Amino acid sequence: EKTKNLINKLTDTHSLLKDEWVYLLQNADVCRDFAFKKACSMRDNIYGKTVFIRGLIEFTNYCRNDCYYCGIRRSNKNAARYRLNKDDILSCCAEGYRLGFRTFVLQGGEDMYFSDDEMCRMISSIKQAYPDCAVTLSVGERDKSTYQRFYNAGADRYLLRHETATDNHYRKLHPDELTLSNRVKCLYDLKEIGFQVGCGMMVGSPYQTNEHLAEDMLFLEKFQPHMVGIGPFISHKDTPFKNEPNGSAKKTIFMVALTRLLLPSVLLPATTALGTLDEMGREKAVLAGANVVMPNLSPKNVREKYMLYDNKISTGDEAAESLASLALRMEKIGYEIVSARGDFAGFKRK
Ligand code: 5AD
Repeated sequence: EKTKNLINKLTDTHSLLKDEWVYLLQNADVCRDFAFKKACSMRDNIYGKTVFIRGLIEFTNYCRNDCYYCGIRRSNKNAARYRLNKDDILSCCAEGYRLGFRTFVLQGGEDMYFSDDEMCRMISSIKQAYPDCAVTLSVGERDKSTYQRFYNAGADRYLLRHETATDNHYRKLHPDELTLSNRVKCLYDLKEIGFQVGCGMMVGSPYQTNEHLAEDMLFLEKFQPHMVGIGPFISHKDTPFKNEPNGSAKKTIFMVALTRLLLPSVLLPATTALGTLDEMGREKAVLAGANVVMPNLSPKNVREKYMLYDNKISTGDEAAESLASLALRMEKIGYEIVSARGDFAGFKRK
């Protein structure tokens, strides 16, 4: 009863106190289905029974950072490194456009080989070739002036997960050179410039407690992102966290539902990590309020090299060329994949 009241309060006011978040997380089992139902109707009221698609282009796995959880951290000498060039990326976009994608996500490690100038050339080439498409960047922490140049070159959206909103937890997941305060500063810079901005967190990362997840929800409420990426932590064999247990798909999906109720118009992906842990993970996430899927558009020969975590899927229905079977899977649960750019409801570019 108390959990249902909290879900109702969240649905009506889009806000909860820290203790209330913790209570919900501790008692997920008695309100899960209720939360899923509310989250679905909230999503359906705003976006209808549609799921947006994004073509994910993983263009470099070089990274200057050394995050303890990530398979492409700089210290991983076993990672086979690669970079795509501008022509490779434009070929991915051509294939993606043919398949119906109208958003391209350029994601990579923090690879300074790609200068600001080069990044801007890539962005403006894509926008020139495909003016009806959105370009999303996911290339980590940069100066505000660099973000501004990316925006001026035509980039529309930016993904930068905050990973965890609790400072001492952040420090357990990252070396000292990375700070939560800089991460958060980057997010505010991006929003001020005019990007549609995505943050997000892993569920079940090492040392994470329900209090940490409650802090994540308080941060989401304060920051009001346009997109939130939520995936389970999955260990990678060549990282310091190789022996840490994976996060739970079930808990991840509950966080997806709570995020929909907190942020009604948010663009919420059913993530690849969730699809990796649970074969039906993406369907379950959509039935809990998610409305985005991000199939892989990278060239096949590099896909297995972008291994953020063990067993990352890349050849099944998450591949862009399998869009038809992904569409079928969504139809079976009553949802339709659409080609539209899928901007945040009501968003206008500056
Ligand atoms: N398990 C799950 N997600 C991971 N990421 C990085 N490493 C892992 C892992 N081992 C996520 C981070 C990052 C995004 C690109 O991938 O949240 O922001």
